[in-house]
Amino acid sequence: MSWLPAPSTGPRVILGCTGSVATIKVPELARKLQERGASVVIVPTERACHFLKCQAKVEMASSRGPVRGGLVSFIKPERKATDNGELRGSDSDDQNSSSDHCSQCGRRTPIRGRKQTDDTLKSLYPDLNFVLDSDEWAVWNGRGDPILHIQLRDWAQVMVIAPLDANTMAKLAQGLCDNLLTCIVRAWDSVRPLIFCPAMNTHMYKHPLTMRHTGILKELGYIEVCVMTKRLACGDVGAGAMAELDNIVNAVMQELPGAHRVSHGPF
Ligand SMILES: Cc1cc2nc3c(=O)[nH]c(=O)nc-3n(C[C@H](O)[C@H](O)[C@H](O)COP(=O)(O)O)c2cc1C
Repeated sequence: MSWLPAPSTGPRVILGCTGSVATIKVPELARKLQERGASVVIVPTERACHFLKCQAKVEMASSRGPVRGGLVSFIKPERKATDNGELRGSDSDDQNSSSDHCSQCGRRTPIRGRKQTDDTLKSLYPDLNFVLDSDEWAVWNGRGDPILHIQLRDWAQVMVIAPLDANTMAKLAQGLCDNLLTCIVRAWDSVRPLIFCPAMNTHMYKHPLTMRHTGILKELGYIEVCVMTKRLACGDVGAGAMAELDNIVNAVMQELPGAHRVSHGPF
C-alpha cells in the first residue's frame, strides 16, 4: 500500500541527502547501514540527485559497478480503482506513461499536468531504495492516494540527513518545507531521533548563520554529527567536511530503539 521497502525486522532508516559534494558518499553510507541490518530509504533533494548520478558514473567505471548484494525490494503502491473504474495514481509504470485515453474517441492522448517519476537513480543503483520529490507528486492524484512524506515519516524509526548543506539547514531552521525531505522533517516528532551531518565549504561553515541554524536544530532535539577539518573538495583547508561514514553509522545505530547509548554526542 505504499512506496516503502518490504517489511523487515531491521531498523527502519530514512537517509536524507542534499546538494553537497559529500552526497557522492551516500550510496556507500546506505550500504554500510544495510550491512548493519537496516532498511534504508534514501530521500535526496533535487540537487542531491545530480551528485548521485555523477557518482553512479564513477562506480560504473570502476570494476565494482553499482550493483551489489542486499537488494531490498519495494512494495509498489496498490493500484486503486476510482468510482469510474480508472486505476489511480500509484503505479510508477502508469505514472511514466506519457499518454492516456481520450474519453470521446478512445485514442491515446498526452497527459497534462501529471507529474512523472524519475527512475534514473533507481536503475543506476538497483540495490538502493530512493524516494524522490517526483514520486511524492506522481502518486497523489486524488483523495485516498498516498501522501508519501507522511507515510515515510510514519514508517521510519530514525532519520539521518547526511550531508546537510547550508541551504537545507537554513530551511529546516526556519521550518520551511518545499520538498519531500523538508516535509518529512517538518512532520517529524521529538520522540524519534533525527541526526544531521553538516557539510559545506569552510567559509560557508564559518558564517555566523551556520552556528545560529545549528543551534536551532539542536534546540529542537536533533543530534549533530560534527564536521571534520581537512582539505575540502574545493581545495580550501578548514572545517566543513562531512563526518566519517563510520561515525555517522555509529551515531544512527546508537539512536535506534533498544540500542545501548554510550554517549549522546557530540559525535
Ligand atoms: C559542485 C557544487 C558543490 C556544492 N557543494 C556544497 C556543499 O558541500 N555544501 C553546501 O552547503 N552547498 C554546496 N553547494 C551549493 C548547493 O548545492 C546549493 O545551495 C543548492 O541550492 C542546495 O540545494 P538543496 O539544499 O535543496 O539540496 C554546492 C554546489 C555545487 C554546484
